[in-house]
Amino acid sequence: MTNTLFSEFRLKDVQLRNRIAVPPMCQYMATDGFVNDWHLSHYAGLARGGAGLVIVEATGVLPEGRITPACLGLWSDDHIEGLAGVARQIRNAGAVPGIQIAHAGRKASAHRPWEGDDHIDPADPSAWTPRGPSAVAFGGGLPRVPEALSIEDIADVRTAFANAARRAAKAGFEWLELHFAHGYLAQSFFSPHANQRTDAYGGDEAGRGRFLLETLDDVREAWPENLPLTIRFGVAEYDGNDDVTTLESVRLIRQFREHGADFISVTLGFNTPMAEIPWGAGFMLPLAERVRQETGMPVATAWGLGAPRLADKGIRDEQIDLAMIGRAHLANPFWPLQAARTLGVERPEWVLPAPYAHWLERYHEVPDLSAEEVG
Ligand SMILES: Cc1cc2nc3c(=O)[nH]c(=O)nc-3n(C[C@H](O)[C@H](O)[C@H](O)COP(=O)(O)O)c2cc1C
Repeated sequence: MTNTLFSEFRLKDVQLRNRIAVPPMCQYMATDGFVNDWHLSHYAGLARGGAGLVIVEATGVLPEGRITPACLGLWSDDHIEGLAGVARQIRNAGAVPGIQIAHAGRKASAHRPWEGDDHIDPADPSAWTPRGPSAVAFGGGLPRVPEALSIEDIADVRTAFANAARRAAKAGFEWLELHFAHGYLAQSFFSPHANQRTDAYGGDEAGRGRFLLETLDDVREAWPENLPLTIRFGVAEYDGNDDVTTLESVRLIRQFREHGADFISVTLGFNTPMAEIPWGAGFMLPLAERVRQETGMPVATAWGLGAPRLADKGIRDEQIDLAMIGRAHLANPFWPLQAARTLGVERPEWVLPAPYAHWLERYHEVPDLSAEEVG
């Protein structure tokens, strides 16, 4: 039977009501990593919109692993209660609550996007020292040279990921995503753009993959076996060297599978500002399909899937198992209703909770009026 955007999806003990997922999207609204009213209402609103899975934004496993001072955190037990509220809001609205745990590596200590998106001046008291695989800067607006992590530091970061996973489970999340993407710490360990180490955590493919596999092993121990443990990973840079990068990435993803990962969210590497990315609707679908075919793992991708027919086609053609719909959800948290109408789903309003669906089924939206008609 052909699956569609509105088919259910099961992974381990988790059942999604459809194949629409909200990918992690930082809100940059936290103080000291804590959830506040913004996060509670934001995530409740997204889940009420009808998606099957809502993944909470990149949440720092250590304070220095945040992208900005306004990112969420899970480095302390004190963070559990607030995030438990977010998970509850998502679950009460019928979606599965997911969370992405992250370490920003050399891209850490930045301004919020609307305040510059660049590294905070080191002299500013809100700044901290970014740390990465090697003392090599990302460049562009992120010029700070990170401190290279020692072997002991690496062990501490792995432990921080495992502890954050344990706390995420305690908070009631049912889907864990490791942020091994977008040029942040884990992705940068795998990339020769960032990793110039000569010890066991650098050099060849095995060395550059070691931090990711070991972190996965530690998290696998900490996260419940019956719940999806997933990885967001960049498989292409568009830097002219993707023949090698994508091949190596596929081989690493096969190892992720052997080490207990259940699902891959296929994305970009973002390890260098010198990339020429062919932005366009659904441009990552072929790469996601390749990962799915060559690793045998279920996959998702994001990036310009906001046209419902395109997201649906990706599922029907078995390129992807879930469609990640990001900014289209910021524009319209009820995007799944729009998609259900476009795709001719029977009684489309019922992708929303009953207090909305019951009325909208009977409500014929008033067409816009011209200035003359309004008078
Ligand atoms: C405001 C904003 C915040 C984001 N934060 C994260 C994040 O925390 N983690 C992550 O992996 N990707 C993040 N992304 C990338 C999105 O998850 C997604 O891949 C991207 O928006 C492309 O999908 P879209 O075209 O459907 O928006 C963010 C994107 C936006 C617009």
